[in-house]
Order: sequence, then C-alpha cells, then structure tokens
Amino acid sequence: MAIHKELITDIKNQTNIVEVIGEFVPLVRSGRNYLGRCPFHKEKTPSFNVVEDKQFYHCFGCGKSGDVFHFLEEYRQISFNDSVKILAERLGMRVDFGDEGRRPHHPHQELYDIHTEASNFYHAILMTTRLGQLAKDYLYQRGLTDELINYFKIGLAPEQADYLYQKVKGQYSEETIFNSGLFQVSNQGRVFDSFQNRIMFPLTDDQGRVIAFSGRIWSEKDSQQAKYKNTRKTSIFNKSYELYHLDRAKAVAHKTKELYLMEGFMDVIAAYRAGLENSVASMGTALTSEHVNHLRRYSQKLVLVYDGDGAGQEAIAKSLALLEEMSVEIVRLPQQMDPDEFIQKNSPEQLAELLTHSRISKIEFFLHYYLPVNLDNLQAQLAYVEQMAPIITEEKSVSRQDIYIHQLADLLPSLNYKQVELVVNQERLKKRQTSAKQMRRPESSQILETSVIALKSPLLRAEMHLFHRLLHHPSLLAEFKQREDLVFQTPELAQLYLILKEQGSLEPNQLQDLGLSEQESQMYYAVLAEHLPDEIADDEIAQLKQSLRRYHQGEALNRQGQKIRDFSGQGDDQQVLAELAKYIAQKRQMEKEEL
Ligand code: GTP
Ligand code: MN
Repeated sequence: MAIHKELITDIKNQTNIVEVIGEFVPLVRSGRNYLGRCPFHKEKTPSFNVVEDKQFYHCFGCGKSGDVFHFLEEYRQISFNDSVKILAERLGMRVDFGDEGRRPHHPHQELYDIHTEASNFYHAILMTTRLGQLAKDYLYQRGLTDELINYFKIGLAPEQADYLYQKVKGQYSEETIFNSGLFQVSNQGRVFDSFQNRIMFPLTDDQGRVIAFSGRIWSEKDSQQAKYKNTRKTSIFNKSYELYHLDRAKAVAHKTKELYLMEGFMDVIAAYRAGLENSVASMGTALTSEHVNHLRRYSQKLVLVYDGDGAGQEAIAKSLALLEEMSVEIVRLPQQMDPDEFIQKNSPEQLAELLTHSRISKIEFFLHYYLPVNLDNLQAQLAYVEQMAPIITEEKSVSRQDIYIHQLADLLPSLNYKQVELVVNQERLKKRQTSAKQMRRPESSQILETSVIALKSPLLRAEMHLFHRLLHHPSLLAEFKQREDLVFQTPELAQLYLILKEQGSLEPNQLQDLGLSEQESQMYYAVLAEHLPDEIADDEIAQLKQSLRRYHQGEALNRQGQKIRDFSGQGDDQQVLAELAKYIAQKRQMEKEEL
C-alpha cells in the first residue's frame, strides 16, 4: 500500500473521529469519551466507545476497534484507499491516486516546499548579511545565542519590497505563490513580500513542516507598525489550531506528561533556555477549543504561564473555561512580567525554579482572581464566597476543599470559617442532589466495562493492566526492559511488548506501519481503552507482579502435578516420591510468599 504517509497523518490530525463516527452512530458524551450502540454487533446497552484524546474507537462488547480510517473501512465495507479519499474530500483536499497503488501527490506539497525554501532563505539573510548582523545584535541583546537562533531557525526578512518573490517566481506555480500567504498584490498588480524587515519565526505543524511565519519588528524606524505579524489563514495554516513549538514539545511532553502553554514566542524560547523543552505558545490569539483539542492529543495536563498583568489574568480565566476536561496548573509570574522578561531580570535557573515550583491550582487562581478590591463591604465578601463555593466543590477531595475554605475565610475580614463552610455546604448539597438524579438513569459504560473485564481471566486482566502502565510510563518501561523474566503469556501482548521495548513507545498512529495482525491491534486498542487513573498507586505494580508470579507458580505447580501423575502411571514409586518432595517444596514456597 504505497500511500503517502504524511498525507495520512495530515488527514488524521485534521479529522476528529468523534465527528466522523457521529455521522453514522449516535454518540453521547460519557466522561472523557463518547459512547454509543456498537454498529458492528447487536446490542441493547451501549458499549461502543470513541476515545477523543487518542482518536480511536473500541467496543467492549465485540472487541472491534481501530482508527478513523479503519472505522470507514469496516462500516462501509470499502478499501483503505477509499477511506483516505473520503476523509480527504471532507477536508476539502483532492487526492488523486492515479493508477492503482501509485503514491498520490500530497495536494499541498508545493506549499510546504515554498515555506521550507522561504525559511532557509530568511535564516541565511540573518546569518550572513550586514543587515542580518544588526538584527542578530538585537537578538543577542535579548539574550539569544547562535545556538538558539539555529534551533528555532530564526531568520530575517530583508528590507527590499519583493526580494523573496524575485527568488521564487518561476520556480513555483502562480497558484502556490498566491495561496502561500507569503506575498501580497497591490492594486496596480505589483507583487510584494508580505514580510519586510522583520525578524522571522517559522511556525511548524505537528510534523515539523514550516507552514507559516510570524515576523517581529526590531528596528527603531518600524516602531509604529504592529509588533508581530502572522501569515494570514491559508490551506496549511490555521492559527486557531496551530501552536508554536508543539512539534518538538510533544515528544518531551510524552515523558513529562505535561505541556506549558505560554503567550509569546519569546516566552517559549526563554523556557527552552531554562531547560524546559515542553512549552508551546498560541499565535497571539486567545486559546480556542481547536487549540484545546489539539493539545489534548499530546498531554492531559497543561501548565498555564501567562503574563503577570491584568490582561494575562483575564486570559487565564478565559482559558480555564475551555480546559474543564484537563488537569491544569497555573504559574503566577511576578507583577507585569512575562517569562522572557523574568529570565532577563533573573537567570535561567530561577525561571526553571519558578516554572516547576511556583504553581497554583485552578481554585487558588480563582481565589485571587475574584477577590474583591474593596474588602470592607460585607455584601462584596458574601458575593465572593458564593462565587467561590461552586468552584471549591469541584475539588474531589473533601479535605482539600477544607483547606480552600480556610484560605477563603482567612482572606475575609468579616466572615469566619463556619460561615464560609455554611455556604460551601449548601453548594455541596445542591451537587449531591443533581448527581443523585443522574444516578437514577445510569450511563451503562462504567458497569458494562467492569463486567466485561471481569469476564477476562485474572491473568489476562493483570497482563493488560501491566501493559497499560508500561505504555504510558516510560520510566516503568525502562525498569522492566532490564528484566529478562517478564514474559507476557498472552501472545498478542508478547508481540506488542517486543515492539514497545524496541521503539520505546507505541502510539495509535504508528500502528498502520507495524504490520500487526487484526488480533494484535484489537488487543492494543483494548488496552488503551482501559480506564486507569493517570497516577500509578503506591503498591499497584508490586501487586501486579505478585499476581503474575502467583499465576506462573500455579502453572509450574500444575506441571509438577502432571509429572507425578505420569510417574505414578508408570509405577515408578521412587520418582513419584522425589517429584512429590519437589511439589511440596514449591507449594510451601508459594504459601510463604503469600504471607
Ligand atoms: P516580545 O516583545 O517580543 O517579548 O513579545 P511578547 O511575547 O512579550 O509580546 P506580547 O506579550 O505583547 O504578546 C504576546 C504574543 O501576542 C506575541 O508573542 C505575539 O504572538 C502576539 N502579538 C503581540 N503583538 C502583536 C501584534 O501587534 N500583532 C499580532 N498579530 N500579534 C501580536
Ligand atoms: Mn516579552
């Protein structure tokens, strides 16, 4: 199947499996996932799960699972190529497969090429020209080094009105040139470069391809112009979806399990200087739900790092409203500073310290955010407590809720702990009543999942559980890699573990390249679909190891029992006694370990 791999990834990144499946199967939200009646087998209670974060579906009833292409293949009984075609057309891409099996041309290939060329060009102007030297001095003075300039591939758009245009015209079709966003046409029909005399930050997509630029003014004479200018919306650049530096941050986030979300390019660079490579920035726009869906594919946890001014605090409050499904922490920067200014006034070490150790929770943020300016007014204090009560009860742990009640009471001159608690209690009561109502018509997913998992043998259950942990916790994988004795009994898991060990990770989008059997990929999705808390509990792995060991010992005991029966059948009493002694020893050992 010689299909352009990047095209497949592009389609997948831009398609939301929930929407596609939702066109055929009614789905309802259930926690982090969507649930419906499985279209592949008859069922009354829904057990068909669509997992938005990871973009796959899995039926707990019949075990069918896969990605969005696979869904169309199975549901509509069509070929893989046809599913690619349908999803591409849905996105407004025309895909021409030409002859059977020929590699289709990526419909946007020329747009990517012209951006790569422009990026190389701008970078060369910065690094090798006299004007470039001056622009570099500006960057040096802001704390950048050549190493950083190279890593972020920063460039300079020359002053001339059409330098880039002269270079690329003739090389690319007119359509590409005008659709790229890199050029503008005057009323007289003259073509100009969109960026002139600006420091250029290339913006990349998830796969690291340059898809747009943001240019910053740097010389005194341009100070009247907008500080930053972005490429306009094109067929490869949507600034409400893309995030600066995500292509590289996502690999690090896979290990650290968190992404920093910042406001500016220079802030991401400052974080990088401080040794934190998992940070991204939106392109000068407020966070959108498209950004959020994009980010959720790579991390369940975000650390918000917005400017320490009033606008920054407003922005945090707005973003939090979009981030309800995610785990979020907030870094509070000292008055009026952004991370870039902080690193200038302090040091990379101090920025690292601030970003990793001065975080507050969402609730603490709102404690400050809603705090009335005038605390003399009792009415204002009461209104504030009523505003905070529903936020506090979102916290699951009651003892933590209690800490916030204390904090809140401490902030208020006219109210004490008891009075604040009273308001929070009313909120708790309200919450309990609504959840009691919901309980009466249960979403069956939870019940169903547990019952299906319970049907699996204890061994399979333990092995799937362990594999889930190995898949999501690289440090655990590293530890287990050293152990020769870990052998999965379930053949599919044994095969998947081999691949996981070799590659270090195993993501849904790698599946198609691995040539897995249908059973193996179903097993993979079944593991992914297991609901486990993000954190590993203290004795969880020890208990898993124990139940696996118990199984292996049980097997060994069975084999030993068989031996005894065999010898006994042959009438070999001598051997029977010898093997029986071994059997008893094994059994004693097991019992000892149980204690
Ligand atoms: P520096 O001054 O270079 O440190 O930038 P900054 O990141 O501190 O800028 P600021 O906090 O003012 O803005 C944050 C982000 O908003 C920037 O990184 C840009 O993406 C965007 N931004 C700022 N000014 C403009 C502008 O004039 N036009 C556009 N389109 N975006 C802007
Ligand atoms: Mn700044």
